[in-house]
Amino acid sequence: MFAYQIKQYGKQEQLFLNEIQKPVLSENSIIIKVHSASLNPVDYRIRNGDTKFVLRYSMPLTLGHDFSGVIEAVGSKITQFRVGDSVYGRTPMTGAFQEYVVVGENDIAKAPKNLSLVESASVPLAGLTAYQGLFDWLQLKEKQSILILGGSGGVGHIAIQLALLTDAKVYTTASKEGQAFLQQFGSIEFIDYHKENFYEVLPPVDAVFDMRGGDELTHSFDVVKTGGKIASITSIPTPSYAKSANMNWFYQMILRAFTAKMYHLSKKKNIVFHSFLTQSNRQELEKITELVESEKLTISIQKIYPISEINTAMKEISNGRAKGKIVVDFTNKERNE
Ligand SMILES: NC(=O)c1ccc[n+]([C@@H]2O[C@H](COP(=O)([O-])OP(=O)(O)OC[C@H]3O[C@@H](n4cnc5c(N)ncnc54)[C@H](OP(=O)(O)O)[C@@H]3O)[C@@H](O)[C@H]2O)c1
Repeated sequence: MFAYQIKQYGKQEQLFLNEIQKPVLSENSIIIKVHSASLNPVDYRIRNGDTKFVLRYSMPLTLGHDFSGVIEAVGSKITQFRVGDSVYGRTPMTGAFQEYVVVGENDIAKAPKNLSLVESASVPLAGLTAYQGLFDWLQLKEKQSILILGGSGGVGHIAIQLALLTDAKVYTTASKEGQAFLQQFGSIEFIDYHKENFYEVLPPVDAVFDMRGGDELTHSFDVVKTGGKIASITSIPTPSYAKSANMNWFYQMILRAFTAKMYHLSKKKNIVFHSFLTQSNRQELEKITELVESEKLTISIQKIYPISEINTAMKEISNGRAKGKIVVDFTNKERNE
């Protein structure tokens, strides 16, 4: 089968078309013929080598973390899916930019009926991240106030819509272009990050969802009410994540050491701080499907590229300016090569 892979780490590294072994079915797995995949910042982070000390991958390496497609085979213990189902989901590790993926039952859900498979590919990773950030980690309640740091990207524009569904008062940092893009989703208070610092103008909020990291994350402690919550997807996971992911005490201790500064800050300010990695969760992906099908949630796609133009798509996501999602369509392969 074909796969788009890198040969080594590096910012200039291009994905190349390789021929690799098709995945093997086991009793608990599902093989899917991939129709489309989306691009996420983690793809260029892995390519750049930013994660190589934590994630030990061997080369050549297929990139890609979420996809849509049609089930080709199911293991004998699979009960929720059948051959021929149109599904979408995330790969447990990197590896979605290839002809077939092998996943578990918890990694996928039926694709929304009102989206094409190309459109469906834009949803899983960004959708689950936004959902888990708001509801699992921040436990956002009706009519609370929330600051979403970096609302115009793949995760942010979904988080904004989900927060608005809870009648939250939503603040977000966005450029002028980001604001023009986000206005379609409802009543949002914007802070133009080119003109002002959110921590100098914002009233105290119940929660912050951080997609920016660095100083912006540190300053977010200045705007959360006492007893409020911050969830981040940009920094080293906290021990709370390690526990939820059933990591053993050794990893929990390591993460405690690496996140000590944030721990002390959160204790000092009496704010609950979590930093997490997105997890597969079929039930949550099914809820996202329902929201998409009932048109309460719209995933905005900035551009769809044929898979043969994956390097152009990678360049675009690496710019960090995407408004919504970028997708690669595998069915366009032959036509475009
Ligand atoms: N922990 C996890 O499991 C997990 C999962 C998913 C994503 N992430 C991380 O979460 C972050 C966001 O992901 P994403 O997919 O949403 O990224 P993205 O789509 O690449 O975000 C790009 C958006 O950010 C805006 N932006 C750039 N600089 C900004 C600033 N200083 N303030 C506010 N907005 C700014 C850009 O618009 P303008 O340039 O026009 O402002 C653009 O619209 C990434 O760092 C990603 O790696 C982590």
